[in-house]
Amino acid sequence: MKDPNVEAYDSAIFSPVTRDWYGTSDFYNVGYWSSPTLTQAEASTALVNRLLDRHAQDQGTVLDVGCGLGATTSAIKHRWPFAQVTGINLSQAQIEYCRRNHRDCDFAVMNATALTFSENSFDVIFSAEAAFHFNTRRDFFSQAHRALKPGGSLLVADILLDREHLLSKKMLAWDVPTNLDQANPDDYKTCLEDFGYRNVLVEDATEQTWRSWIRQLIEKTESTGVPAPHRYLHDAKRSNVVTYYVLVSAHK
Ligand SMILES: C[S@@+](CC[C@H](N)C(=O)[O-])C[C@H]1O[C@@H](n2cnc3c(N)ncnc32)[C@H](O)[C@@H]1O
Repeated sequence: MKDPNVEAYDSAIFSPVTRDWYGTSDFYNVGYWSSPTLTQAEASTALVNRLLDRHAQDQGTVLDVGCGLGATTSAIKHRWPFAQVTGINLSQAQIEYCRRNHRDCDFAVMNATALTFSENSFDVIFSAEAAFHFNTRRDFFSQAHRALKPGGSLLVADILLDREHLLSKKMLAWDVPTNLDQANPDDYKTCLEDFGYRNVLVEDATEQTWRSWIRQLIEKTESTGVPAPHRYLHDAKRSNVVTYYVLVSAHK
């Protein structure tokens, strides 16, 4: 039987409304909106590039954790063609899609909180908008620290959610564990330092990412009638369920 979490991730990412919103790109993230005239695919690519800007090398081994339909994995390979890029996902169906559509990268079904790679395997461990699903995020940080080479970079775009709203069950399903243990950028930084990461930078990018994206959803939905991924719009109109959207980098 399929894990109910995986079922929820699959139904969200493969939903026709979601796929229409992302056009021909395989992304599923809010993007980084340096200008409101970007397309969704451009903003999603910009999000990947902003994280990659924080790592000095352009080759070696890179792991994309929670790789969705492979667009982030491919964007990394496109920016760093000489790197060996591997995407992992909890979902078999998403990994099968990635293997069919992003042939220049490697893919594996694997849980972010139980990485099976040897110690010191990767120069970069990257994750875009997936770590808030991990049960727990702390287990992922610990596993990633083991799998990174000394001097390697952890690069993460992550969402911090309002615990009270989640626990009150007034929100629509976000498919996240409720034991959220990092409430703000300072907590996030301390947590990474506790696992031994150095040079930890946690940037609050809520305005350029989440809030800009919600404005895009509202404007496009109202002006063109194109449907938006409804549950996000619904939640965003009702509350500040997203407290922070952070861009994180750290060294082992
Ligand atoms: C919001 S999507 C982001 C996809 C992609 N990174 C992007 O930006 O287009 C989150 C992804 O994380 C995956 N995921 C959730 N929990 C996971 C876990 N514990 N281990 C690996 N992948 C997971 C989901 O299946 C989904 O593909």
